[in-house]
Amino acid sequence: MLGNFVYCNPTKLYFGDDSLPYLNTELPKYGKNVVLIYGNGSVKKNGIYDEVTKILEANGKNVAEISGVMPNPTLEKLYEGITIARNHQADLLLAVGGGSVCDYAKAVSVSINCNEDPWEKYYLRFEEPTCKIVPVGCVLTMVGTGSEMNAGAVITNRETKMKIGHVFADENIMPKFSILNPKYTLTLPHYQMVAGIYDIFNHICEQYFSGEDDNTSDYISEGLMRSVIHSSRIANKDPQNYEARSNLMWTATWALNTLVSRGKSTDWMVHMLGQAVGAYTDATHGMTLAAVSLPYYRHIMPYGLAKFVRFAKNVWDIDTSGKSDEQAANEGLTAMECWMKELGLVMNITELGANEEMLEGLTQSTIVLTDGYKALNHDEIVDIFRNSL
Ligand code: NZQ
Ligand code: ZN
Repeated sequence: MLGNFVYCNPTKLYFGDDSLPYLNTELPKYGKNVVLIYGNGSVKKNGIYDEVTKILEANGKNVAEISGVMPNPTLEKLYEGITIARNHQADLLLAVGGGSVCDYAKAVSVSINCNEDPWEKYYLRFEEPTCKIVPVGCVLTMVGTGSEMNAGAVITNRETKMKIGHVFADENIMPKFSILNPKYTLTLPHYQMVAGIYDIFNHICEQYFSGEDDNTSDYISEGLMRSVIHSSRIANKDPQNYEARSNLMWTATWALNTLVSRGKSTDWMVHMLGQAVGAYTDATHGMTLAAVSLPYYRHIMPYGLAKFVRFAKNVWDIDTSGKSDEQAANEGLTAMECWMKELGLVMNITELGANEEMLEGLTQSTIVLTDGYKALNHDEIVDIFRNSL
């Protein structure tokens, strides 16, 4: 392991099917004014909203609400939330939902006391907050993003067709606490469940397919990937299987809570390509990743061949004896493709609403990163999107 690093993750987690009452432990640590943030109504249908509001009431909180946080939360919605939270003089932002709601809460938290435009400051100039941050707590209802234990906040600017994630360096932006009850995820539609599963898997890939040193993180990543594959196969056949769903929930958190990226370079290009697709089509995050992944990995494979062979062997149990490195690496990617199809993931961007005319715009919208095995040029990005159609 050759990199230098600092590791600090201050988020306190409460995990399990009896974790919600721990809100009673957390709420007294904050002032009276709570802003409850949620999405488009799933939490009202499945009863989580009622359970949370009862606890807020019992703790004597003065509650304002931001509802209707959409998947891929927009800048307009962020402005609306900042006003509500400011007017309420929020002491705590309580996000109840998936990654979109948790990300959104973090974006509001760094903007309430900030006089500058959040889009310009955080998403174009990638600055850290220079104002007081309002603490965030999460009750997670959808598994995938890792937002419950990281400092990422992705916002979409529909006007400029840019979907940008800022992963803040300041660990104070990570949620102060997160409640992870796997039972809450059992009401997710199959489409969202498998999109989340692929999001987990891809987060690990993004941190795995980079660097050439002997790195502890890569061994942890292989274990996490094997766990995702195993549990996903059970959950795909039997979505109500609590054991599989709880393993998926825990793996999602570890896939992106900064642990496996320590001490190594990372390559987030699949996310950059997927986010461009999201900005144009508003498609479900995990599906945008699934649709561009294989064309991307097949393109960069020759530049990181040894790692792709290791992936084939250690993650997919490919017997590499008597095979060339290219053959073994390809068999690993084919095994991954079969698994993705087995889950029913969307494997092309056409199905998500993209088309040939968008190729140039998608390319312009793609932020190019340079820490992977191959820094992509303009024409390579166009080709990857074309191969994803
Ligand atoms: O809005 P409601 O009605 O709540 O419905 C949601 C939404 O339609 C539904 N849902 C959530 N929990 C449910 C449920 N339906 C039934 N039962 C439940 N228990 O699921 C839909 C998707 O929710 P969303 O929060 O959008 O999904 P996800 O967790 O995948 O979050 C996606 C967002 O996170 C960002 C993505 O870009 C996207 O904007 N990401 C954040 C990251 C981070 N913070 O580090 C990293 C990720 O790579 C990702 O980019
Ligand atoms: Zn993701």
